[in-house]
Amino acid sequence: MNDAPPLIIANLKANKTWDEIKNWLNVVGTQTSEVPGTIIFCPPSPFLAAAAQQIKSQNLKIKLGSQDISRFENGPYTGEITAGQIADLVNYSIIGHSERRQNFSENNKILEAKVVNAQKVGIEPIFCIQGESTPIPQGVKVVAYEPVFAIGTGNPDTPENARSVAKNLKTKSDYIVIYGGSVTKANVKSFFQNEILEGVLVGGSSLNPDDFVQIIKAAAS
Ligand code: PGA
Repeated sequence: MNDAPPLIIANLKANKTWDEIKNWLNVVGTQTSEVPGTIIFCPPSPFLAAAAQQIKSQNLKIKLGSQDISRFENGPYTGEITAGQIADLVNYSIIGHSERRQNFSENNKILEAKVVNAQKVGIEPIFCIQGESTPIPQGVKVVAYEPVFAIGTGNPDTPENARSVAKNLKTKSDYIVIYGGSVTKANVKSFFQNEILEGVLVGGSSLNPDDFVQIIKAAAS
């Protein structure tokens, strides 16, 4: 992972049409070209290829990530999108988000297979953990600490606790630790004090491109 911190990640989840995404890229890309750090945009998978094209044609400083990846390498798995199929489009893949663990029964074994598949084709996993006891597969470098109580609730963890989790994780391995869960333009800066956390994963507040621009600018200030 050679991208400059902070990593500011937008996870659109199952939201937005292509027209809205086109506009999002245009707004965010053109207003943040001079801001330090790395913007990672994770739209719904059907739009990855068109988003990659737009980023290239407008020369935007935005990297792409997928919101998930198949645990299978290829074969008769209807509906799946494999790591190899999107390796040319994305640099990152979110793996182990609590919404996938809860709604799609993804367990540690499945998530390990996803990490292996991503790494095989050069995609950097952004591995989500819900607490310090969540197992982290071998070789993972970017860990997103995302306590379930904070996701989509407007009730973020305290920056102090998030930093303490990051510190403890860093004693186990040289992880890049980011925080996710109700990050907003008003609170984002607080997570970057003392330079322990190196990024944020943003859901709800990434949907409005103008708000997300403010998050990016606040994180860099
Ligand atoms: P939220 O989502 O920002 O809407 O809380 C964060 C996430 O799901 O990663």
